[in-house]
Amino acid sequence: HDVKTGEMIVLADGEAIAQYMARWLTEQALAKTDGPFVVALSGGSTPKRLYEILGSADFATRFPWDRTQLFFGDERFVPATDPASNYTMTRTALLSHISIPPANVHPMPTEGDPAAAAARYQAELQAVYGADTLQPGRPLFDVVMLGLGDNGHTASLFPRQPVLQERRLWVSTCVPDDAPHTRLTLTYPAIHSSRHVVFMLAGAGKREAFAKVRAGDPAEPASHITTEGELVWLLDKAAAAV
Ligand code: 6PG
Repeated sequence: HDVKTGEMIVLADGEAIAQYMARWLTEQALAKTDGPFVVALSGGSTPKRLYEILGSADFATRFPWDRTQLFFGDERFVPATDPASNYTMTRTALLSHISIPPANVHPMPTEGDPAAAAARYQAELQAVYGADTLQPGRPLFDVVMLGLGDNGHTASLFPRQPVLQERRLWVSTCVPDDAPHTRLTLTYPAIHSSRHVVFMLAGAGKREAFAKVRAGDPAEPASHITTEGELVWLLDKAAAAV
């Protein structure tokens, strides 16, 4: 599926999106019994409320954290102590409230050479996947969560950057020309190898970018996201313009 044909679920606001996603993710995790539940978390500000809900007592105890593997879809190449770190946001909102084996949490490395760090992260994904090449019909991720930036970027797939041409590597660097920080990001082929891709969008600020991507505007990096599984847009009314 792709961004044009994916299902659209329109909810009242960002809070409703977070509540819906928390329930849905828990159902998916509980239903996955033949192997680990493998998730790529998104960064940015939108998923923070979802992470808080998943970290609340009700979800923290019901969610099968011990057989969940948490990866990140992208990261700013900054120390984990930097407020811009997606890992730090996730640790504060979620990880510090749940009981998950440390080996199941996979922050993107942000030290040394960025390309070498990307290669190390790919190796970490390959270890969980159990193979070095992606096989159709055998998705790497159960769920890839994505956001959308106003320049059409998703994960750290930024406009005009060489990473948009990457067809082989699973993880790559990206140096945006219109945003701070070098990034590490999952590539299109890694995101494609998924059972579900879920975009979460809240607020009128997302309306224009969403309309372009939904129409398939090729200049928007998010327009080229595909999955061998299901693609879902979780939107609030403001973002969907309804
Ligand atoms: C990140 C992600 C990025 C994000 C969008 C939307 O910032 O880590 O790379 O793709 O999901 O920029 O961000 P907001 O949720 O903050 O609007």
